[in-house]
Amino acid sequence: MDNQQTVVVWDIFVRVFHWALVILVGIAFLTGDDDSLLHVYTGYAILLLIGLRLIWGMIGSEHARFASFITSPGAALDYLKGMLHGTSRRYLGHNPAAAWMMMALILLMLLVNATGYLAQPLKSSGTGIAAQSALSFIGSAWADDDDHHREESSGSEFWEELHEAGAGLLLGLIGLHVLGALVSSLLHRENLIRGMISGRKRPCADRYSEPNTRRR
Ligand code: HEM
Ligand code: HEM
Repeated sequence: MDNQQTVVVWDIFVRVFHWALVILVGIAFLTGDDDSLLHVYTGYAILLLIGLRLIWGMIGSEHARFASFITSPGAALDYLKGMLHGTSRRYLGHNPAAAWMMMALILLMLLVNATGYLAQPLKSSGTGIAAQSALSFIGSAWADDDDHHREESSGSEFWEELHEAGAGLLLGLIGLHVLGALVSSLLHRENLIRGMISGRKRPCADRYSEPNTRRR
């Protein structure tokens, strides 16, 4: 029912990237227990998407570029504090807290992918065998510190546990991310989720942000 003029904020790449990520991460969680190739390929597809997004963050449209939304941790804290009082500025692109959340999600997805790769049983082929063996050795040494698991621990088990812990943390961050999108939507009286689908948002007084003018 919003008849106001809107402007394109999220280009088609950002939108396809986002919703493809949601589907793929969903599949990764659903197939984690299956010991399936689908799980592994889903992880690699996520890796590819992230790689493309990092490139797009340098050459993409205005609000897709990291330079337009990376700010100090202090700015993110200010935004979060303002959320409690309903005073946070409204941002056309990512708000500072959303920007840090995005970086955390990407970093964690990379770590979950890396630990997933290392959790696979050693294969006799492939170029990464030496690195995988070395890292598995480090993993074994670390796991051996734990007296309870001294007998049965192996590098692969160690990475498996890290992989599971990382996936659990990722799920928690995704929950916070969605909560943040819902609370910001209420705070600024705009549907940010619809914005990530259509790419459009209502314009903003300044170039990137404006005071919160829609307080109750
Ligand atoms: C697997 C789950 C998810 C992951 C990994 C994820 C990740 C991300 C990332 C990386 C961005 C930054 C987009 C970019 O600049 O390219 C983003 C933005 C966004 N996501 Fe998600 N997301 C997930 C689920 C969701 C869900 C379920 C919703 C909504 C219900 C949602 C709503 C949004 C919104 C509204 C933004 C834009 C935030 C803003 O206005 O600053 N996300 N998400
Ligand atoms: C973001 C991407 C990924 C997510 C969210 C994810 C998530 C998960 C989850 C939830 C599990 C189940 C853990 C459990 O048993 O409770 C799992 C298991 C596993 N994943 Fe991933 N994974 C990802 C990427 C990968 C990749 C890229 C690989 C391999 C190259 C991989 C290899 C494995 C293996 C070998 C297991 C079995 C470990 C076990 O038996 O507990 N994963 N993953």
